This record gives sequence, C-alpha cells and structure tokens, in this order.
Amino acid sequence: MSPVDKTIESLLLHNKHWAANRVHEDPGYFSRLSNLQTPKFLWIGCSDSRVPANQITGTDPGEIFVHRNVANLVVHTDINVFAVLEYAVTQLNVEHVIVCGHYGCGGVLAAMQRNAFNGVLDKWLRNIKDVYRLHEAELLACPDEKSRGRLLVELNVREQVLNLAKAVVLQKAWKSDHRPALHGWVYGLEDGIIKQLVEMRPGDDLHPLYQYENL
Ligand code: CO
Repeated sequence: MSPVDKTIESLLLHNKHWAANRVHEDPGYFSRLSNLQTPKFLWIGCSDSRVPANQITGTDPGEIFVHRNVANLVVHTDINVFAVLEYAVTQLNVEHVIVCGHYGCGGVLAAMQRNAFNGVLDKWLRNIKDVYRLHEAELLACPDEKSRGRLLVELNVREQVLNLAKAVVLQKAWKSDHRPALHGWVYGLEDGIIKQLVEMRPGDDLHPLYQYENL
C-alpha cells in the first residue's frame, strides 16, 4: 500500500494484523510489556514523520522512552519536556538521554527566515533564532544557505544538550547516580545515518554559573 492509499481504517486493520503476528511469534509478548517498562534510553527528537526513533535505532517497544516536538527543543519553561525528563531520570532511571535532530529540519530552516506563522510557532522557533544569534559568526562563515542550515541543525542539537545539563533534575542525578549520559545526534534524511555530535557526562565542562552547589 502506498502512503497516499492509507486511511484511518487501514491503520486500524494493520494494527490488528500486527498484534496477532506479535502474539504468534511470542505468546508472552504483551503480558510481559504490559507489566513493566524498563527503557535505558530517553529520546528527545523532532516530531518530523520521517524520523521515527524506534525504526532508525532498531529498538522495540519497551526500549526507548520518547518525547518529540518541533525541532527537538529542550525549553526550560516547557512543562511537557521536563515532566518527561523527570519521569525518565528519577523513575525509569534511564542511562542515556539522546537529543536527535535531523538535517533538513523544517523548524530550524523556518527559524532562519523572517516569515511569521502568526501563532505560537513563532514563540517556539524563537528559541532557535537565539541559537543562531549566539553562533552568528560561525554561521555567516558558511559558503551557502544549505550548509548554513545544516550547521544550525547541529548547533541547535548541541544547545539542547546544554539545556539538559543546566537542569536541576539532571545535575541531581549526576551527583547521586553518575547518570545519565547525554548524547547529541543528527540524522540524515537523505542517507538514514545518525551522526554523533556531542556527548556530556557527569563532571564535564559546564559554565560554573549553571552548576548548582546545594543539590
Ligand atoms: Co524537524
């Protein structure tokens, strides 16, 4: 079935086949998963339909805790991403938090333009404009708009990893448990390959002003 032929009904029909196949292959599959989830990884990715966390990493249900939003942002006033982070770090005890961006990200490319969406998207994407302003010299040194867009995708991922490291919930876990490790990745829509950009672990360099002393 080609993507354009898919309907709401065909999705539900597929689901019935999928569930039946899983039980056929492994009769205890659903009873096991319904009782417990112990993912080692938290994935913070873009909502883009072409970057599905499980498929591109070969992970099954139960293996990755997932949060996705437009342009994979970690915004300190976003109660949603921080509820997910807190649950993953303090309850699920994940060992790794991955921020995964992707080249050709519509959110990042829109933030490089001056067209308003006249809505909440403008406020959301302003966070990426701030990343641009922080790294403007490096971005302006790019030979063309395409490479500038790719660099901003990467810089945005790095900035979101930093935003994680600034969070109290994370610094507490680093101090008491020496986890989780933070990873910044970028996915290529054109080749399906994930590139590792940055990694941060407890004790890694973070501006002292962000390091809380009384945790
Ligand atoms: Co995107």
